[in-house]
Amino acid sequence: MDLMKRRSGGRPAGPHALLIGVLALGTTLLGGPAVASPAPTLHELASAQGRYFGSATDNSELSDAAYTAVLGSEFGQITPGNSMKWDTTEPVRGRFDFTKGDVITDFAREHGQSVRGHTLVWHSQLPSWVGALPQAEVEPAMVDHITEEATHYRGEVTAWDVVNEPFNEDGTFRSSPFHDAMGSDYIATALRAAHAADPEAKLYLNDYNIEGLGAKSDAMYALVSELLDEGVPLDGVGMQAHLAVQYGFPYEMRANMQRFADLGLDVAVTELDVRMQLPADTAKLATQSTYYQRVVEACLAVRRCVGVTVWDWTDKYSWVPSTFPGQGAANLYDESLLPKPALAAVRTALGEEDDGGGSGGTTLKALYRNNDSAVRDNQIKPGLQLVNTGGAAVSLQDVTVRYWFTGENGASTYSTWCDWSPLGCSTVTSRVAGSDPAAAGADHFLEVGFRSGSLAPGASTGEIQLRLNKTDWSNFDESDDYSRTGATSYADATKIAVYVDGELAWGVEP
Ligand code: XIL
Repeated sequence: MDLMKRRSGGRPAGPHALLIGVLALGTTLLGGPAVASPAPTLHELASAQGRYFGSATDNSELSDAAYTAVLGSEFGQITPGNSMKWDTTEPVRGRFDFTKGDVITDFAREHGQSVRGHTLVWHSQLPSWVGALPQAEVEPAMVDHITEEATHYRGEVTAWDVVNEPFNEDGTFRSSPFHDAMGSDYIATALRAAHAADPEAKLYLNDYNIEGLGAKSDAMYALVSELLDEGVPLDGVGMQAHLAVQYGFPYEMRANMQRFADLGLDVAVTELDVRMQLPADTAKLATQSTYYQRVVEACLAVRRCVGVTVWDWTDKYSWVPSTFPGQGAANLYDESLLPKPALAAVRTALGEEDDGGGSGGTTLKALYRNNDSAVRDNQIKPGLQLVNTGGAAVSLQDVTVRYWFTGENGASTYSTWCDWSPLGCSTVTSRVAGSDPAAAGADHFLEVGFRSGSLAPGASTGEIQLRLNKTDWSNFDESDDYSRTGATSYADATKIAVYVDGELAWGVEP
């Protein structure tokens, strides 16, 4: 599959976009019906709901062109999986290195994405020098670290996971060099330092197993309530959402999100993945789909839930197999970067319209023959046949076909003709309209429709002999026309588009 392929006027399409065409209202110069446009990306679907859809990524993954094509197009937000962590950014006290994180913010800027900074203070991936400090030195070292890093990324990072994973499962504070030195006050100190360094960034506390109601989320709720009461700068709570099909779905996720929102905080799903015991099977993948879908639905149901970030989008780069031996298959796309059922479930949850034909459900195809051997004369003569390749009858009144060509100089008005068809030319409609925007070889198109009739499964319309000319009978140059080929017998024509109910069912638009 060519992941780099571009669709007309769109961003590079992810694999899914090649499978599903979705109705969008488009205009033509002469006015016309709705035209099909590329399937919206995950982020476009989320944006339509006022949310972002993001992914984690990592520096080593950015040399994989097929991977970056999807990362750069489907997602509106990225989170560095490792490159802004303490062990990477300050491996030796006072020696800061932001090279890797800068690669991520550069990628985001080039692709119009926002960046969640992850993470300033965490017990893990912490260089050993921090734990070796005398207790009195921990606070200044922490404040320095936060100040340097948040200052460096001012204007680049829109939200910070200031403190990551502060709690044990039972809701007690996790011990760490920070907690050991400062008690739970380290959290307020960290938030204040981050706010001083970057007053614009949204500041979050982030943890796992706080997605549902329970002891750990109660502890987070109590902590953030207290911080807000004390006027500590805090904007949101990040719920990692590292879920597993074998552990069940978080209890009352929506209600849990809502109680944080009711405190005036934003909520974000920051690291979503849904792992399973390997090997994956249809039942586990189906459960996984419902988990992904329910997380997205929970976020959309809570006004203060600002977006969802998956902890990378493909099984190829998942952290799961190395961290949870025997488990995996946690992401939306498989190791070959192909969509899994969970992707369709997420798209549905984000409000994607059903394409009628089902995913990949092309039900009609166009065949074309060139009935005009002259490349430069005053008429264009496409021969067309439609074949129903699906399992259900298609009402021809719902079908339109587009053949793209260039008009060259001369009149901008056209006459169109059906010369012969076993359907009877009186049932065939045709017109020419200008393409907007005009693409190479395609500033106009011939649009064919039907007044009546139905095409049974497997049936063909038979030949439809079409013809068009400019009203001043000036010549065309058909050599560069998008939909034209030299075919003298009928063959599948992918550069002729077929729409059912205005949705692209066959062909690639210019
Ligand atoms: C993980 C990364 O994905 C791995 O590459 C790394 O080896 C370990 O950390 N919760 C978090 C993330 O907050 O930082 C973790 O990321 C996954 C769990």
